[in-house]
Amino acid sequence: MRARTVLPLLVALSLAACGPRPSTEQRAQALAAFATVQQVFQHPRCQNCHIPGDAPLQFDAGVRHAMGVMRGAQGHGAPGLPCATCHGESNPPASYGPNAPPGAPHWGLPPPEHKMAWIGLSPSELCATIKSKKANGGRDFAALLEHVSEDKLVLWGWNPGGGRAPVSVPHEELVAKFKQWAAADGPCPSD
Ligand code: HEC
Ligand code: HEC
Repeated sequence: MRARTVLPLLVALSLAACGPRPSTEQRAQALAAFATVQQVFQHPRCQNCHIPGDAPLQFDAGVRHAMGVMRGAQGHGAPGLPCATCHGESNPPASYGPNAPPGAPHWGLPPPEHKMAWIGLSPSELCATIKSKKANGGRDFAALLEHVSEDKLVLWGWNPGGGRAPVSVPHEELVAKFKQWAAADGPCPSD
């Protein structure tokens, strides 16, 4: 073979070795899908737990949690006041009124060494944080997708109890958009 034909062949082979590259169109669709992911992740039902500080937030306004509740060493509260003192495995019956503590299994904040804080991040910062294994507890796209699809604290966002507004995008739509974004290798928007 002549050099003229070998070079393009090598280029084609090395591209193939990296797996299929997302096409420009796939990338554009993935970026649009990420906008939905962002909308959900930064909804008050999600970001009230995904915070940089030492206390959870509450309400749509994201005010500091009442009663001096703290993150604690594992994210499950201070030794004398664990989240489970008040938050059960499921929401209390509606008869308890709108201000009863909501509930879901393993209610708590991420641990202090992986705060998984998203509140106030720009789209590109949020995107980088979600993907960073250092920031997300070592999860790859498959593990993230599983978490977003099945985790009980995530699902609680669509059944928050009391008078709380659920996440504004349907859960199936979040899962579909997350999949689409991840399938294109999780491209990040530029700010
Ligand atoms: C009651 C607090 C709480 C709420 C509400 C909550 N999360 Fe989380 N989230 C956590 C905790 C705790 C972890 C860490 C769990 C672990 O590492 O196993 C976590 C981890 C995650 C992760 C994996 C780690 C990462 O940084 O990517 C994702 C994704 C996630 N949450 C998405 C959501 C979404 C989306 C919502 C809203 C629909 C939500 N969470 C609502 C507490 C919460
Ligand atoms: C002393 C009881 C108590 C403890 C302990 C407690 N909470 Fe709460 N929490 C409540 C009550 C009550 C509400 C509901 C307040 C309302 O809606 O008026 C609430 C609401 C919340 C909300 C509101 C969600 C929203 O989107 O508005 C989050 C998040 C939350 N708690 C997280 C935690 C975490 C995490 C811990 C442990 C680190 C914890 N709480 C410990 C009583 C408690």
